[in-house]
Amino acid sequence: MPDTGASRASVLHVVGARPNFMKVAPVMGALGRTGAVDQKLLHTGQHYDPELSGHFFDDLGLPEPDVNLGVGSGRHAEQTGKMMIRMDPVLEEVGPDWIFVVGDVNSTVAASLTAVKRGIRVAHVEAGLRSGDRSMPEEINRIVTDSLSDALFVTEPSGVENLRREGADEEQIHFVGNVMIDTLDRLRGRTEKEAVLERMGLEDRSYVLVTLHRPGNVDDEEQLAAVLEALAAVSQRSGLPVVFPMHPRTTSRVEEFGLDDIARRIAVVDPLGYLDFLALMDGAAAVVTDSGGIQEETTVLGVPCLTVRPNTERPVTVSEGTNRLYTGPMEGLPEAVSERLSVTRQEKRPKLWDGRAAERIAEITVNQLLPASPTGS
Ligand code: UD1
Repeated sequence: MPDTGASRASVLHVVGARPNFMKVAPVMGALGRTGAVDQKLLHTGQHYDPELSGHFFDDLGLPEPDVNLGVGSGRHAEQTGKMMIRMDPVLEEVGPDWIFVVGDVNSTVAASLTAVKRGIRVAHVEAGLRSGDRSMPEEINRIVTDSLSDALFVTEPSGVENLRREGADEEQIHFVGNVMIDTLDRLRGRTEKEAVLERMGLEDRSYVLVTLHRPGNVDDEEQLAAVLEALAAVSQRSGLPVVFPMHPRTTSRVEEFGLDDIARRIAVVDPLGYLDFLALMDGAAAVVTDSGGIQEETTVLGVPCLTVRPNTERPVTVSEGTNRLYTGPMEGLPEAVSERLSVTRQEKRPKLWDGRAAERIAEITVNQLLPASPTGS
């Protein structure tokens, strides 16, 4: 479709933190291919280190953001408030018909709240997920964002049930599948697994990959010490290296609590870009995590995953996937990892995790959400 300029409907996509980038990329791609939408990308600057942000733009082929609010780190209220204050004049100037937000980070909720106050409609990609645990900031962000959204794009059946229970209108709910898996399918063939493993001195299927950064696991000194001890014990018991690309939040806690000696007993490395991390996940014998997205990615890769959390907002990864929750004391972690290591790898595809979720979102957006006859045409 030719570019008809001002008459096209406009969408502003908002990203801010690492887990957002792989979700927005396929949505922007699919909407772009319709030729029906004028798209802009706003980065709040919640994540600003190249390892958590810039490298992802390169790996995913995302365009440079049109706007970067440069908000950075801070207490939740301060960070969220700054985002709203800086975003408001941008929304006034850009005047989008819709904003699209993804996931459950502070940038997601800040953008949704700012937009609805201006009468701009909000579409939430990855709506409806619920852990039932309101002590997690992400759960609050999910509940608030969904309650403010006009369109709710859902990844798994539990999300549809949750939204119905909370009173969302049927017309708002669209079960489309998982855009993060669209990205995984697109880029899996482009990873350089052998080179990554060689560079890190690892052998395929012969290491345990770890990511832990949730406040519940790393913000308390005793808990973090127990976690690191348990990971060292996992390595000892399994005879496999434990590789831990450490999130800056975790690194700063390790330093603050003086836990460097324990951390040295495992292979701590810097956070990795998308492609290198995907390669590492694919080559792992098992994964230990508290991430949301990694529970889903390991399901599709078929890598046994142990999630160190008392709950998950992604139950399909447990019922249909390769994921198990670990809720016991840290001393029991090595045994639980051994169980995971004994599981045969089996790639799973929950319903509609077929690499085409973003196409469905684009189709619904063009046919149902955008004004039938855009103003000015
Ligand atoms: C955020 C998300 C979390 C997501 C995670 C992925 C919220 C509430 N949490 O948590 O859901 O799983 O991102 O990474 O939005 N920091 C840096 N460099 C950066 C960004 C952060 O060093 O580029 C450090 C800062 O010391 C900061 C800490 O990390 O204090 C936490 O950053 P923040 O964005 O507040 O939350 P995350 O823990 O990254």
